[in-house]
Amino acid sequence: MTLYISVSPDPAGLAERSVDVLEVLGGKAIAQYGRFVLSLAGGSTPRAVYALWAEKTQLDWSKVVLVFGDERCVPPDHEQSNYNMVAESLLAGLATQPTIVRMEGEAEDPVQAARNYDYALHELLGSDGFMHVALLGIGGDGHTASLFPRAAALNEGAAWCASTPAPDGSMQRLTLTVPALRNTRKLMFIATGADKADVLRRVLEGPLEPEALPAQFFLRDERLNVNLLLDEAAAAKLNRRE
Ligand code: 6PG
Repeated sequence: MTLYISVSPDPAGLAERSVDVLEVLGGKAIAQYGRFVLSLAGGSTPRAVYALWAEKTQLDWSKVVLVFGDERCVPPDHEQSNYNMVAESLLAGLATQPTIVRMEGEAEDPVQAARNYDYALHELLGSDGFMHVALLGIGGDGHTASLFPRAAALNEGAAWCASTPAPDGSMQRLTLTVPALRNTRKLMFIATGADKADVLRRVLEGPLEPEALPAQFFLRDERLNVNLLLDEAAAAKLNRRE
């Protein structure tokens, strides 16, 4: 297992570092496999990364395939849609559009939408296939993607996508599952801000309790290849910083 921790001075520095890493990983994937299959994180942290990436990228985006790590069960033009955030921050700035495999947040039946996404991923990757990179955030409760603490979706051992309720009951979500993310060549976590310092210390240095801190399924798994990109504020309570 390789866990590379990179600490940047501030969110702008983290965005720069993240774009540099994504450009290297994307270039390598395209050179080796002829395409770059990347799953994107939602939430607020990645927005600045995506906007800078659209400005600075040198990749051949006709060879990039974008998948989603999770989605809120809302229409794609809804303000809370991860697709909408990606469209506004990344896609709008690209001269050449990638292939996009979108989670159907608008579907009436989230369980069927999850089945459809599982099928679409197997079609895209082949059943023994894999994504090259998964970009992931981490929530204050230790969730990643929409893998929330003690959720039934944590126990999905085969399908690559599941539906799950948001902890506050506000909406259903679709999420890649533990097997889907563990089957990815490189996991790339990004986190900024002092409000993530406690959860990062618990996830990385506290007792192993992945049911309570689902990001531990990935950040504490010796078999995986993980980059953790932080700013100083998020890294402030870690003993280990590289
Ligand atoms: C989502 C994300 C989620 C996010 C974390 C961190 O749909 O919200 O996929 O897993 O990455 O909640 O969110 P912030 O970047 O907003 O802190």
